[in-house]
Amino acid sequence: MFFKIFEEAASKRKEYRAFAENELDTGDRFPYENLAKAAKRGFMGCPIPREWGGLGESFLNYILLIEEISRVCASTGVIIAVHTSVGTYPVLLFGSDDQKSRYIPGLAGGELLGAFALTEAGAGSDAAALSTTATVVDGGYLLNGCKLFITAGGEADLYIIFATVDRSLGARGITAFLVEKRSEGLTPGKPEKKMGLNRSYTTELRMEDLFVPERNRLGKEGEGFSIAMSLLDGGRIGISAQALGLTGAALDYTIEKMKGRSEKQLKEEQELSFTLADLEARFEASRLLSYKAAVIKQSGERCTKEASMAKVFASDLAVEATTKCLNFVGVENIKSDSPLSRYFCDAKVTQIYEGSNQIQRIVIARELLKLY
Ligand code: CAA
Repeated sequence: MFFKIFEEAASKRKEYRAFAENELDTGDRFPYENLAKAAKRGFMGCPIPREWGGLGESFLNYILLIEEISRVCASTGVIIAVHTSVGTYPVLLFGSDDQKSRYIPGLAGGELLGAFALTEAGAGSDAAALSTTATVVDGGYLLNGCKLFITAGGEADLYIIFATVDRSLGARGITAFLVEKRSEGLTPGKPEKKMGLNRSYTTELRMEDLFVPERNRLGKEGEGFSIAMSLLDGGRIGISAQALGLTGAALDYTIEKMKGRSEKQLKEEQELSFTLADLEARFEASRLLSYKAAVIKQSGERCTKEASMAKVFASDLAVEATTKCLNFVGVENIKSDSPLSRYFCDAKVTQIYEGSNQIQRIVIARELLKLY
């Protein structure tokens, strides 16, 4: 049954690959055109139900879409992954009818771009330690604080912002809010200068007496941390798909470059061909982990352990594969305009964001210990 699902997904992969290869570009600035093309095909709402304006595709097909887009442009891949997994799903899964009808059709159609604002200077891995406050005032809340490393910061139209209504409650004081781009008191910073993923703009987000009406609180007070964690389960499968795209692209590029080598040369360079063979085998294993996590997520069962395993395995492999491929194909590929150099620089952060790989290992171990 499991493999039947993959068979059905194969034709979707073909469609997504053709879209990515024929329509997407790579460049330096925010990929407005790529996102517009994705929106035109309905891909900004790929797994969102049709009744809300999405394509109603399975979570597995959405993961294949992110993989194929990331093969061509990993920045576009992460923007769409964040927009979908942790920008649109929060409203779909935890929003009131009023919130869903105000935001989901726009998000699914790509007229609105979603973003997720959890991380702070003192609360990266320890997300429950966040210090952005939400003070109850007449008709809503006043938010004060500063978020860091927000994907699509300054470009997104709707931010899911996490703040605490009472720091003494720890995780149980954290509350989620829906904040529109042009709200008074919300100021995004300039895009950070990064080693890779330069098109996906990462900024800080400052909140100074930012008023959020009560109707834009997502879920109840104190539910925000569980909301964030459950969304990150899906988000991490999306990052595994982004890493898979980078590994696949690096392997294809390297194999293409090696095609001219004779049997004799390959024999002489046996270590190189063995390494390629190992990478390819682990690439397939990594795909299976990610697709299995996606199928579990689609079934509605909790996929915390599977998502973390998929993310760790795929991101570690992306860094190793892009590094080794770069070693193989010759010095001209260290130039910054070489695709391989871009894959290498883009891969590193997949080990760090949506929960570092150390955090993923903590999550996996905790889930294991719960079982026994
Ligand atoms: N699903 C639902 N609920 C969950 C959950 C999950 N996967 N994981 C935890 N919870 C709930 C727990 O049940 C608990 O609820 P109760 O209080 O009701 O019992 C509550 O959340 C607190 O859980 P923990 O005690 O496990 O929390 P913790 O403080 O020990 O933290 C952690 C756990 C795993 C370390 C967490 O802090 C974490 O994941 N940190 C990493 C943060 C992260 O991933 N940030 C990513 C930022 S977004 C990003 O990077 C996007 C981008 O730009 C690409």
